[in-house]
Amino acid sequence: MEPKTLVDEAKNVLKRNDHGRWMVPAGNLYPHQWLWDSCFIAIGLRHIDVERAQTELRSLLRGQWKNGMLPNMIFDSGQAYRQDRELWRSYVSPYSPEQVATSGITQPPMLAEAVVRVGEKLKIAERRSWYANMYPAILAYHEWLYRDRDPHKEGLVILLHPYESGLDNSPPWISELRKHSMPWWVSLIERLHLDGLINLVRRDNRHVPPGQRMSNIEALAYWAALRRLRRKAYNSEALLSRSLFAVEDLAFNCILVRANSHLRQIAKTIGHVVPDELLTRMENTEKALEQLWDEPSGQYYSRSFISHKIIEESTISTLLPLYGGSVSKERATRLVDLLKNRKYFGTSYPVPSVAVNSSYFDEFKYWQGPSWVNTNWLIMDGLSRYGYEKEAEILRQRTLEMVAKNGFNEYFSPLSGKPAGAPNFSWTAALTIDLLKS
Ligand code: GLC
Repeated sequence: MEPKTLVDEAKNVLKRNDHGRWMVPAGNLYPHQWLWDSCFIAIGLRHIDVERAQTELRSLLRGQWKNGMLPNMIFDSGQAYRQDRELWRSYVSPYSPEQVATSGITQPPMLAEAVVRVGEKLKIAERRSWYANMYPAILAYHEWLYRDRDPHKEGLVILLHPYESGLDNSPPWISELRKHSMPWWVSLIERLHLDGLINLVRRDNRHVPPGQRMSNIEALAYWAALRRLRRKAYNSEALLSRSLFAVEDLAFNCILVRANSHLRQIAKTIGHVVPDELLTRMENTEKALEQLWDEPSGQYYSRSFISHKIIEESTISTLLPLYGGSVSKERATRLVDLLKNRKYFGTSYPVPSVAVNSSYFDEFKYWQGPSWVNTNWLIMDGLSRYGYEKEAEILRQRTLEMVAKNGFNEYFSPLSGKPAGAPNFSWTAALTIDLLKS
């Protein structure tokens, strides 16, 4: 497909997913506004309509909690979605906003990146006022992340539910779930092979073949984890004292490192001083990230908050320290070796969300194998900043080829490029525009 046609087709996808002031990730499967989706969407939209890109990001702030948290979902207010809103019941927390219903957990902190990328398209005076408008919300969000999710000031932010990682069924989370947090009744359902019954209530499987989503057992256990959160009114202190499901997630913390440097840049541009306490904590994250390095395998990993042990699973997160940008050139080179290695991430349609030599690898299964355009985008960005321009360009070409051949799907087989998950997926379309126009 010609680049021009590809851009036009991508614009069509965005148009059909547009709800006016915010976009859904994909019509039927994801009918609400998602946090990091809107950030990626704005990064693409800035090339075609910068005002609309600003609106997309501003609309995220209507969901911000009084304590600074940005929720991963802001629900559509339509009658049809009462059940979704009731599942989360954000009103159980005194911090939730009054005007909109949201989830009670967050998602990777991509907002600062999106604000800067959109800012690049504005003249300096407009950019300053854009930054000045968005800065208080980003600051409050980062302060919340540290206050609420790094209570012992160790440097790494803790996630309380796998949905917060954005990589829902990524192996480290599944392994933690199985080790520490499987409710007895879910294990019983598994032992008795009754999990097929769950299909009767699962909506996602009506839109996407079950083999491309998480398993029924995983979905059930995640639902139980969500109920635990809700019961504690999304109060992390209450939760951390009892729950055995908490991870220092590698991808999230890498994205945070990068977001912190954007926050500093935004503050500088508008003449604000980032509070000292926050600056110290940001530096600590960069240092603490090195505790996740495992020398023998030459990789970074997520760490269990419960056992304090690293979770040795090679996933897409392994490569995200490149995007974070704080790791040494030497360690970055070892990550690039893994990216090219055919036993790990060097497939025909990279980058697989799980290394191909992992026992979890399945070319179609959600975050357990398929290639996703948003993580490719993050890795390309990291590669260029570490000076791997050639590798970044190859990944750009491969990604565009995958989309041009197969459509704007949610994810793709890393072996054949075959499309999977939801069709007409917003961030795939938006980031395709960005890859063609940047
Ligand atoms: C899935 C993905 C998550 C994304 C959401 C909406 O839950 O795992 O990363 O934000 O869908 O697209």
